[in-house]
Amino acid sequence: MPNSSDTTPATTDVRAKHLRITTPSPWLQRFQHLIAQQGRVLDLAAGGGRHGRSVLDRASGVVFIDRDIQALHDLLDHPKARVIEADLEGGTSPFEAGGALADERFDAVIVVNYLYRSLLDGIIDALNPSGVLIYETFARGNEAFARPRNPDHLLKSGELLTAVADKMQVIAYEHGRVEASDIPGVKQRLCAVKDLQNSERDDGDPPAHPLAPTTK
Ligand SMILES: C[S@@+](CC[C@H](N)C(=O)[O-])C[C@H]1O[C@@H](n2cnc3c(N)ncnc32)[C@H](O)[C@@H]1O
Repeated sequence: MPNSSDTTPATTDVRAKHLRITTPSPWLQRFQHLIAQQGRVLDLAAGGGRHGRSVLDRASGVVFIDRDIQALHDLLDHPKARVIEADLEGGTSPFEAGGALADERFDAVIVVNYLYRSLLDGIIDALNPSGVLIYETFARGNEAFARPRNPDHLLKSGELLTAVADKMQVIAYEHGRVEASDIPGVKQRLCAVKDLQNSERDDGDPPAHPLAPTTK
């Protein structure tokens, strides 16, 4: 499978554009209340770490991983942050023995504007029971408007749903054109909780979660 690690000017431009955005994605803002207080969080392909940074207060620790950690240097001494410089697509999966995240478990994994299909199973396996996956990236159709256009970097219709099928409870899913977004384009977004096995109900259904932050 071709990887997305090329550093051609086009790819570098996209990264620079993304690094200029410091506010977290509205999708994460909408669902970050589902991340356990004092949970361990992974911001995968973190870039400048805007998503991991936004949950640092509620987390016990956040792991930021990217092949380029220049924009994360200010976090190197942060007591709750761990910054890992690693190529996520370079041979051994980061989740497998010998990988940068081998045997690590998280209460939430956040992936925004990054896709390397081979990692999807490892991401789900790395979640603790009741862990939350918040994933948002470009999908097929985006090529008509803007980069990324490479099909390796564009989700197929329903692909994130297929990835979590029978493994996680889907809380929310969207696929379509997003005009009012940090990076406009065709996006697929998923929020899912790994709690299909946690039922306390006679019918085996998983627990219900608040769709918005609980007000007291
Ligand atoms: C478009 S940026 C998104 C950054 C961040 N998630 C955000 O939304 O602000 C994609 C990120 O993926 C990282 N990336 C691309 N290929 C990678 C690889 N093979 N290994 C590790 N990181 C990679 C880039 O360095 C870049 O920071």
